[in-house]
Amino acid sequence: MNKLFVTLMLLCLGTASAQSVQSPSGEIVAEFKLDNTGRPYYSVNYKNQPVVTKSYMGFNLKDIGQFNSGFTIAGTKSAVVNDSWKPVLGEVAVIQNKYNELSVSLRQQESGRLLNIIFRAFDEGIAFRYEFPKQDNLNYFVIASENTEFSLTGDHKTFWIPGDYDSQEYVYNETALSQVDNDKLNLNNGIAVKSIGGRYIVQSPLMMKSKSGLYINIFEAAVVNYPVMHLNLNPETFKLTSQLVPNAVGDMAYLQAPAVTPWRTVMVSDDARDIVAQKMILNLNEPSKIEDTSWIKPMKYVGIWWEMHVGVSTWDYSGTQDASQKKPNARKPHGATTENTKRYIDFAKKHGFDGVLVEGWNTGWEDWFGNWKEEVFDFTTPYPDFDIKEVTEYAKKQGVKMIMHHETSGSVSNYERRLDRAYKFMRDYGYGAVKTGYVGRIIPRGEFHDGQAMVNHFNYVPRRAAEYKVMVNSHESSRPTGVHRTWPNYIAAEAARGNEFNGWSDGNPPMHETILPFTRLLGGPMDYTPGIFEIKMDVYDPSKTEQVHTTLAKQLALYVTMYSPLQMAADLPENYEKYSDAFQFIKDVAADWQDTKVLEAEPGDYLTIARKAKGSEKWFLGAITDENARNTTITLNFLTPGKKYKAVIYQDGKNAHWKNDPINYEVKTVEVTSKTKLNLKLAAGGGTAISFVPVN
Ligand code: NOJ
Ligand code: CA
Repeated sequence: MNKLFVTLMLLCLGTASAQSVQSPSGEIVAEFKLDNTGRPYYSVNYKNQPVVTKSYMGFNLKDIGQFNSGFTIAGTKSAVVNDSWKPVLGEVAVIQNKYNELSVSLRQQESGRLLNIIFRAFDEGIAFRYEFPKQDNLNYFVIASENTEFSLTGDHKTFWIPGDYDSQEYVYNETALSQVDNDKLNLNNGIAVKSIGGRYIVQSPLMMKSKSGLYINIFEAAVVNYPVMHLNLNPETFKLTSQLVPNAVGDMAYLQAPAVTPWRTVMVSDDARDIVAQKMILNLNEPSKIEDTSWIKPMKYVGIWWEMHVGVSTWDYSGTQDASQKKPNARKPHGATTENTKRYIDFAKKHGFDGVLVEGWNTGWEDWFGNWKEEVFDFTTPYPDFDIKEVTEYAKKQGVKMIMHHETSGSVSNYERRLDRAYKFMRDYGYGAVKTGYVGRIIPRGEFHDGQAMVNHFNYVPRRAAEYKVMVNSHESSRPTGVHRTWPNYIAAEAARGNEFNGWSDGNPPMHETILPFTRLLGGPMDYTPGIFEIKMDVYDPSKTEQVHTTLAKQLALYVTMYSPLQMAADLPENYEKYSDAFQFIKDVAADWQDTKVLEAEPGDYLTIARKAKGSEKWFLGAITDENARNTTITLNFLTPGKKYKAVIYQDGKNAHWKNDPINYEVKTVEVTSKTKLNLKLAAGGGTAISFVPVN
């Protein structure tokens, strides 16, 4: 590891001259200045083009007042950092951390209060955060609002989901900034925030494309002890302002100096691939706090899950709670029985999967939804038909790991009270991973999923789980911002609209999976639950019209394009037996990577990624498209020159189409080298998946 760290101290007391910092490549420049009222602002340029123009910074502090003007510069500091680190699980084996830093110390003349603003310029973009140093005149304080602006230069094309302090489970809208309009949308549960002060709120990461072809992304990193930042959009001026998520009494954040905010990030490139491949969000997070990480492992799993989502079985013992909600009085079999679990364990063993998830194993499901009830689950009482001792012994004998499920139904108070009992129970039965869930409104009542208290909860769970050597996969959490660098046992999260929506709603349009790598995935791996082979839900019930909005081949490609060290083979065992030649790809594909090459990318249109499995010479490729069919030629120059590989290609069949003929696929084997050019033909809503294995 090479490490170069230079710190320069420049004292420029009282001056209002511009300070700037540029990326190592020199292409991105951030400039900082105070206006003549001592109000801080910044701007960002990329290859001499403005990306963010004059944008003010600062706060309103409760009971104190404005903390955004009357400042002078007390000093500045620069640093040059170039080092590298190894993620425990990741898309690449080594991550380079290279940036130039500028810290500006500000003093508010009248109050004497101090505020530092720290900029980091990476080749991928600019990050900045506020730091409240320890000082006499500011100890405990409350953020009433953060007023960070992002003034954009035009009416960019934007991939946006509406502001909702409780959920990100939305379909993306692709419109110009000026056309953002939440009123047209069906918001999830009626508590979404459509607008404040007549302006629309959208969520970050916000992915945009300018008319001149710049890809611009606004996000944040290291959200710790602070609420999530949404963005308040002025559709006439294209200015975004930070909109923090309030708590139950309307405050944003309670802090004590010294304190820092999360990093605000502006990524920019003229090549969309750079956004997908970025590592700055991870680099802006603290290194791992877990010393012995040997128990943190990638995991491919199956589970008693999709059968409830398609209405074949139920979560609850009395047989009423499935996700179809079509026939509320119909009694269906309970999914999480000992027998059924053993069937999944056998299937996992037979096909080489690491784990089995079982949902609906514990009491509470009769009563779990929509009641805003505090005590629903105790996380330690199995239903009478789930013999956890027998299941544990059987799984152990078969060498399969069990994944616990903790649905909290939003009652975080109850979960935290029971956390140690729940995790001790898991340890007693040898569970090394847990899927958590936060469906519904939060208890303590009035809190939002994205507020400071819940952010703290979502960071608290992996921290405590680490004490029990448990890996965490959270659903309905706030969206990750790279904190899994610090807690590498936080191996995945949902925090976006997953594949499940295709089972029981209008679903996810074909472009959905081409957008997520530019948005949600920038913050961390997603448990998207790909691999649905029976695309149309009428196989379960002729009255069903729901379907997955991809071809079968695209479901395979998602294992490569949607990075996660935790990957589910989400469909039912019998469906995999039925399409066993296609299933082979899911069995073969890796979940932890030595190297990643983003070969082609365009948000909302297509994505092609090749990855090399960790500790192996095997490569895997995934190519996906939106609702448009696509032909492309890929040069395999990522393969080792001179080596021969057996390539197994899983592609859309002739006339395949996500709606008309989604299960139409072909599997063929060819021999290739790094010089081979492969023509890929992707159907509408289709994809291609390829495994490359060196010959001898
Ligand atoms: C929503 C989760 O996303 C899903 O995976 C889970 O099955 C249900 N909640 C029930 O907990
Ligand atoms: Ca969900």
